[in-house]
Amino acid sequence: MTSSAGLLDIGHLGSVIFSMALADFIQQLDELAAEAVTAFDGASNADELEAARVEFVGAKSGRLKAAQKGMGSVDKDDRKAAGIQLNDVKTKVEAALQAATERLAAGRSSGKKQSTEIFDPTLPGKRPRLGHLHPITQTIEELKDIMGRLGFSVAEGPEIEDERHNFEALNIPSDHPARDPLENFYIAAAEKSQGKPLLLRSQTSTVQIRVMEKTPPPVRIISLGRVYRPDTADATHYPMFHQMEGLLIDRQVTMADLKSVLRLFATSYLGHDVHIRFRPSFFPFTEPSVEADMSWGDDWIEFGGAGMVDPNVLRAVGYDPEEVTGFAFGLGIERLCMRRHGVTDIREFYKNDVRFLHQF
Ligand code: DAH
Repeated sequence: MTSSAGLLDIGHLGSVIFSMALADFIQQLDELAAEAVTAFDGASNADELEAARVEFVGAKSGRLKAAQKGMGSVDKDDRKAAGIQLNDVKTKVEAALQAATERLAAGRSSGKKQSTEIFDPTLPGKRPRLGHLHPITQTIEELKDIMGRLGFSVAEGPEIEDERHNFEALNIPSDHPARDPLENFYIAAAEKSQGKPLLLRSQTSTVQIRVMEKTPPPVRIISLGRVYRPDTADATHYPMFHQMEGLLIDRQVTMADLKSVLRLFATSYLGHDVHIRFRPSFFPFTEPSVEADMSWGDDWIEFGGAGMVDPNVLRAVGYDPEEVTGFAFGLGIERLCMRRHGVTDIREFYKNDVRFLHQF
């Protein structure tokens, strides 16, 4: 018994020695697995994950491979248990690698961070950088809106015009300096190909004629659009700019109506009570004619030209000046927009510099 007990003891002792090796092996594996899972979980991009993959499960010199080789030092009897343990660890490590790969593919940088991150819906969002309408287009839309509420509908006319609509019907005779070719953009080939001179319209007053030719009175329209003049560009001039034309024809229209409409319009556009001042002036298509100014703080600023439609204009479109009267006005849209936004150079509108355009 004693000897067998001694043998047993020796055997037991031996077995204990080899069991320790298995325990060490298992502990090593567990530590390796924990390190690998931490590395895969913490990888914040594909490169980091690949580096961790090579370190732990690389086919040639990965640490798992090295651990597998260490199985040789485990007692023969324990190798099966060690093998099972190794397979478990491999499965666990590969699952962590797979999870990290999927996490990065879904665009999340860290599994750990994800789970602890708090989504705060009250934080301000990031404003998307969207484009918007050009400041002049915005102004045009606003002017249409204001005048629409005063009962004016929008009329349009062509930008390439003939002399009747740009001059003659507007009571601008052929010897008038405004018709000088140097003051206008005449289209050189037009006379030959169209049989009459054509030019880029120099004013939106052309649309008054186009509307009255087609429509019997009463008329209550505005027209907004581009006009062209061969001016050298500087802070207040540009060879193309925009005007708003207004025309109201009815029975017994007076200059008091004109002043009221301009005042209501200016008040709506500027958002506070504005006064309108008339200074005597001359335009061929109105009689009497005025320059209208509006108050701006302590200043008066030029608003545009206006007046009572000249009887010659009414006759030119077949209206009876004994029956109807009306007023007309024309103003520069850039100037209104510049005043409102403190822009000091008209050329800014047409440079297409987004640093300027983005402010509106
Ligand atoms: N057409 C004029 C210009 O371009 C502006 C103007 C003045 C228009 C008086 C009008 C008006 O309708 O009555 O300078």
